[in-house]
Amino acid sequence: MKKPIGVIDSGIGGLTIVASMQKLMPGEDIIYLGDSKNVPYGNKSEEDIYLLTMAMLKFVEEREVKLAAIACNTISTIHKRFNGKLPFPVVDIVTPTVDHIDKMGAERLAILATEFTVKMGSYERMLRERRPGIEVFNEGSRDLATLIDRGEFDSQATYDIVKHHLNSIKGKGEVYNIVLACTHYPIVEEIFLDIDPSLNYINPGFQQAKAIRAQLHDMELLQRDGLGSVEIYTSGEAGIYRKAAEKLGIKRMSEPKTVAIKEYTE
Ligand code: DGL
Repeated sequence: MKKPIGVIDSGIGGLTIVASMQKLMPGEDIIYLGDSKNVPYGNKSEEDIYLLTMAMLKFVEEREVKLAAIACNTISTIHKRFNGKLPFPVVDIVTPTVDHIDKMGAERLAILATEFTVKMGSYERMLRERRPGIEVFNEGSRDLATLIDRGEFDSQATYDIVKHHLNSIKGKGEVYNIVLACTHYPIVEEIFLDIDPSLNYINPGFQQAKAIRAQLHDMELLQRDGLGSVEIYTSGEAGIYRKAAEKLGIKRMSEPKTVAIKEYTE
């Protein structure tokens, strides 16, 4: 039986990974769940993030996924807590991105992420394990993911906040590589490019999609034939998902649906 891949995020951000997945493995069926009712996760406690994420993983488990992608940097900083809790592999986004940066040979870079991701320090710690001399400028954003999740893809407020963060990063020192380490940010990549086209914006979603493809290949579960479909569910407003998916060029999707996610307790 052909099983789908589950993709979860606090909101619409993980659709950036779905777009890369469709390019790299067009045969796969994808079940997407975004918890927009509770977005942003980036300003919550670790315990709240853990319980909300387990509820999402249970949702995709009921749909018999063969693997789940945590298409969210914030949740990925605690991904080890999900090990052994589910009958399928759970793939995070930070590890493949750190691999990529390491191979790029970058000696200095900026991480733009939610406040929780910055506080957890996973990128910096993992990068230092491989490249002790690397210089990392961290920049946390309290509001950018929330604005994007509301569908503000080209508003003045979104533009102003991106400009504020780019200026703040440049104030820390000269830097070329900027990791868009919140999956919501690549949805407004044009704003970053309008404000400063000279910088190299790294989109971790592509690295995660590559890692998933490699893992499915190794497990002999990669769907090589046909064209897969995308089902999108959210605990919030479904219309914004359609708008984001269309902007990202996602194909073969059914109409996004609002659902209730069952609360998870331990
Ligand atoms: N998309 C999520 C990430 O990659 C975070 C947005 C949020 O704060 O919920 O970090």
